[in-house]
Amino acid sequence: MKNRFYLDYNATSPFSTSFKSYLEKGDFPFANPASIHTSGKFSRKCLNQVEDFLFNLFDLDASEYHLVFHSGATEGIRSFFEAAQEGDAMFYCESDHPATISSAKALEERGVETIPMSISSSGDFELEHNIELIKSWKTKNKGRAFANFLYVHNETGVRWSLEDALSLKEKADCFVHVDSTQSPGKIINWERLSTGLDAYTYSAHKFGAMKGIGFSFVRKAFPFKPLMKGGAQQSGLRGGTENVLGAISIKLALEDIQGLDLSAIEVLRNKLEQLVLNREDAIVVGKDSKYGRAVNTLNFIIKSKKADISLIQFDMAGLDISSGSACSAGSVEPSNTLISMGLRDYAKNGLRVSLGQCNIGHEKEILKKFEQVIKRL
Ligand SMILES: Cc1ncc(COP(=O)(O)O)c(C=O)c1O
Repeated sequence: MKNRFYLDYNATSPFSTSFKSYLEKGDFPFANPASIHTSGKFSRKCLNQVEDFLFNLFDLDASEYHLVFHSGATEGIRSFFEAAQEGDAMFYCESDHPATISSAKALEERGVETIPMSISSSGDFELEHNIELIKSWKTKNKGRAFANFLYVHNETGVRWSLEDALSLKEKADCFVHVDSTQSPGKIINWERLSTGLDAYTYSAHKFGAMKGIGFSFVRKAFPFKPLMKGGAQQSGLRGGTENVLGAISIKLALEDIQGLDLSAIEVLRNKLEQLVLNREDAIVVGKDSKYGRAVNTLNFIIKSKKADISLIQFDMAGLDISSGSACSAGSVEPSNTLISMGLRDYAKNGLRVSLGQCNIGHEKEILKKFEQVIKRL
């Protein structure tokens, strides 16, 4: 669309350049990778190439981790916690993505105890407190503990440390799932994972690949229970014919991200942030977090303005930004993340700008429009 700028990459992203060029070819592997004819074997080969690429990229060992393709992070998260049974506990944060919160609700119904962990006012994971929380539950209960760890926060961009996730696992003796959905192309060293954690989950459409596909690395030592039972695909870990084109889109998009200039995105984010901070009644959320934020994300509050009012102004100016938290019936719901960070009074005021590749080269126009709206609000 002409004269519009898409600043909502944490919601979803446009296709990567390489995947768009690939689509122009118009000739794709379509056969079922389980078929033993030549066309089926070609699909299998394409899928295997993507698997090898992902293990190499993230430097994980195929002897230690399964790679499971699924429909996206919602399914990946829900599948991980499927292992929890009555008498076990799931530890999560109120600031987690709704996909995690709703998994907790589903598990409660089967007798899994769900216990919130805490975050600080800057959005950091309160490691020592949360270790003690899990340890204390374990001394009183015989069940197993499963924890979710949100690597890069979708609303605020606040980044947590994988070393903290590993300490949580080792000191509290629990299973840890890392929700890595927002990491590719948004933090430095997004591909550097720690071995030892139980799973990492990704959603392809967040980094320039297709919607409806994602993947998780799941440690072989983890007692994974398939959520989607079906045929024998993916060694029985996830039934359903594999989405080969989707898998190819993942490889092409991640290759593009490897060449992405994150510093150009960070410079633009910082300039937008400065425009926000020129107002006395503004708060930039998560700015003081311990391990920093995703370079593409700016979450801010204008104290006197609810997000739904501000969003209309940005939209009319040609800027697609978001409220960060969910909207229902056209109005913005209070953000559980802002509430967890002690910002209850402004829980309906949070705005999120999340940048990506297509913004580079348009910095001047974006800054001009953004400044006009910020001054007007
Ligand atoms: C951190 C995080 N986890 C999980 C999800 C769910 O991803 P999907 O909707 O692709 O299943 C999202 C999507 O916004 C997310 O940002």
